[in-house]
Amino acid sequence: MDWNVERLEHCASTMDEAETRAKAGAPDGTVVVSTQMEEGRGRHGRAWSSPEGGLYLSMVLRDVPNPQFLTMALGNAVADALEVAGAEPRLKWVNDVFVEDRKIAGILVEAESTGNTIDFVVAGIGINANGHASEWGTPLSETAITLQDVLGADICMEDLEALLLDEVSRWVEVVRQGRSDEILAAWRAREYLVGKKIGLDPDGDLCTKVVGTVVGVDDEGRLLLETETGIQAFNDGSVFIS
Ligand code: BTN
Repeated sequence: MDWNVERLEHCASTMDEAETRAKAGAPDGTVVVSTQMEEGRGRHGRAWSSPEGGLYLSMVLRDVPNPQFLTMALGNAVADALEVAGAEPRLKWVNDVFVEDRKIAGILVEAESTGNTIDFVVAGIGINANGHASEWGTPLSETAITLQDVLGADICMEDLEALLLDEVSRWVEVVRQGRSDEILAAWRAREYLVGKKIGLDPDGDLCTKVVGTVVGVDDEGRLLLETETGIQAFNDGSVFIS
């Protein structure tokens, strides 16, 4: 893919910046990178803490048919990039990347549709690169980790960004070609939750929780949970590890 990267010192959220550009006709491959964000966001409207030192980018993608597989494919891309950098990443359904049982990166895919047709997708990736999670407030100091923490060395942001965009190019092509078996196989090979007992909040509204043991993901990318009433499949939701 040909990337057209725009760099900002700060912004509210690169998701909004990329969406504005997409609505104005920005082509496939438009990328907005920001050094910091004031209102970085994650799934279900949660905040994404975005201090200087992280890699925060959102990209405009056109002609992407299935956002669920795109999220998983981008998980593979982030994991491949982190592995080349020297880490051992695992993938936590559906959009988290973990290293050493802590979150190192997150993915957010937002689609703009007309009727049943997806006009464009804005895909955001945040990687905790430089800095030390232990210096962040709770709960992040207990749940997050940075690449610098893992490798014990400063991270060259330009190299990490270039590596990431190369891997994203490769995986977006796999999504476009409908090679979902490949996406699932690579994703399952790094699956973090399998065998773990979890609580799942299917709507992300923090009201309902389904408890069960993770069996895996099915061929549509849904999380399979063994519950008291049998195996249930979920399209979406927030996972809490008990
Ligand atoms: C999550 O863990 O729920 C997803 C986090 C996604 C964070 C990235 S950082 C770049 C882009 N801009 C944002 O405001 N969010 C995404």
